[in-house]
Amino acid sequence: MNKAILLDCDTGIDDALAILDFTARGGELVAVGSVHGNVPAPVGARNTLRVLEIAGVEGVPVCVGAARPLAQPLLTAEHVHGQDGLGNTNQPAPKLAAAPGSAAEQIVRMAHAHPGEFTLVAIGPLTNLALALLLDPELPRLIPEVYVMGGAVEVPGNVSPTAEANIWHDPEAAQLVIEGDWAVTLVTLDATMQALLTPSDLKAISGASSVRAQFASAILDHYLDVYQQWIPGRTCPLHDPLALALVLDPDLATYRTLATQVELRGGTTRGTTVCDLRGDPASAAQEPAPGWRNVRYLDELDVERFRALFVAGVTSP
Ligand code: RIB
Ligand code: CA
Repeated sequence: MNKAILLDCDTGIDDALAILDFTARGGELVAVGSVHGNVPAPVGARNTLRVLEIAGVEGVPVCVGAARPLAQPLLTAEHVHGQDGLGNTNQPAPKLAAAPGSAAEQIVRMAHAHPGEFTLVAIGPLTNLALALLLDPELPRLIPEVYVMGGAVEVPGNVSPTAEANIWHDPEAAQLVIEGDWAVTLVTLDATMQALLTPSDLKAISGASSVRAQFASAILDHYLDVYQQWIPGRTCPLHDPLALALVLDPDLATYRTLATQVELRGGTTRGTTVCDLRGDPASAAQEPAPGWRNVRYLDELDVERFRALFVAGVTSP
């Protein structure tokens, strides 16, 4: 698997933490696109540029992406990530501006310039990826592997009883991406809700003196306040950092394959990732029925090792 990635994100507190950790641990970003989701896409691009500045990463183009989902109105999540998307930390404007062109066009352009050389990782709604597939249906030949933070298989959703935010924000786009002829790994809430920061992790991060760690600690403060309404104690899940950590180190987890489709018609279940859990091992090896695709999911996650790597990443100079 390629450890160089093209990242699509809706930066967002946990997106920011993911970028800080990934770049600290030597992960290579070939380009970044922003998408609506936690905040409007232009705000996501500005936040990404600011986070890259804090991480000391230069020369990575950041394009603004889709302003809204394919088939439903825009809904953002400032109630979780703060009005600025970065925990109301009042960051200065980044020195650099977004690169010209749209995030979807950038995916297509980079795929043709670097065929087979990077993994596509989405940690926001999947609108840009879907638009890129519509622009160039040959894309999966050029980008063999896609990692997505999104979905919930055997745990409750986080925006509805059954749906996870990144899928729910644009279900049609998610189904297009799942149907693409590329290998898709979904890093779902089943795994990310196990990846919780502990009091000693938080102490290590807030006690570290690097710019990266101080920024991580500042944005985490807001995230921890918000998560108190859902998880007892002072903790939060590392949704997006887990997806990027798995690109660097796939052995952090074991995997299973399940036939999957996104529920597009349901009222209360719209945006749910429906997985065939009937458990016939032979069926995982077969081509699933029309509309269904085989998707890879995490089975067992080494939570301790992931947390240790994350803390080491964000506290590094
Ligand atoms: O459900 C978690 C996901 O929704 C994360 O990507 C978070 O940043 C939000 O977009
Ligand atoms: Ca995100």
